[in-house]
Amino acid sequence: MKAIIYTSNTGSTAEYAQLLGKELNLPVHSLQQAKNKVPAGSEIIYLGWIMAGGIKGYKEAAKLYKVRAVCGVGMGQTGTQLKEIRDKNVIPKRIPLFTLQGNFDVKKLHGAYRFMMNVMVKIAGKGLANKTDRTPEEDDMLDMMVNGGKRVSLQNLKAVTEWYKSLN
Ligand SMILES: Cc1cc2nc3c(=O)[nH]c(=O)nc-3n(C[C@H](O)[C@H](O)[C@H](O)COP(=O)(O)O)c2cc1C
Repeated sequence: MKAIIYTSNTGSTAEYAQLLGKELNLPVHSLQQAKNKVPAGSEIIYLGWIMAGGIKGYKEAAKLYKVRAVCGVGMGQTGTQLKEIRDKNVIPKRIPLFTLQGNFDVKKLHGAYRFMMNVMVKIAGKGLANKTDRTPEEDDMLDMMVNGGKRVSLQNLKAVTEWYKSLN
């Protein structure tokens, strides 16, 4: 494996990429930087933040590099939404996919993203707030939406590090 390459908006995906780089002893670059530093065709692990189900930068990364694993960083819990994300992003079965829960804070967003999430928080947040039989996952999601939340942790990368170690 040559490198870890990522695309982040508010920093969670960058944090995960750095944590993973330390764990696996691999260099870490944003997709923008990588274009000058990591030769096309190299084997990489790609991490991108999730926007409306899409993993930002994945298509571009897959054109440039041999993507050996993908991590999508979103506000949903780690290890959930795997089928939806795989289908939506057309990630082939042979490529392992992981989802990681990142941070969420409307105040850190700008422009269209802030507008979109304000609408989402109003609509989905209201729906969840009015629900009387919320699951623990839904409680967590509501808390993230209303209060913001920081969920980046090394623990969430466990499945990714285990997969990597199983290669050798
Ligand atoms: C416009 C917008 C759309 C989003 N859509 C999703 C989504 O479909 N699923 C999800 O789990 N998280 C979604 N999120 C939450 C982000 O993926 C989450 O906050 C993530 O931690 C952001 O990563 P970053 O800090 O690297 O930018 C969305 C966020 C924004 C701003």
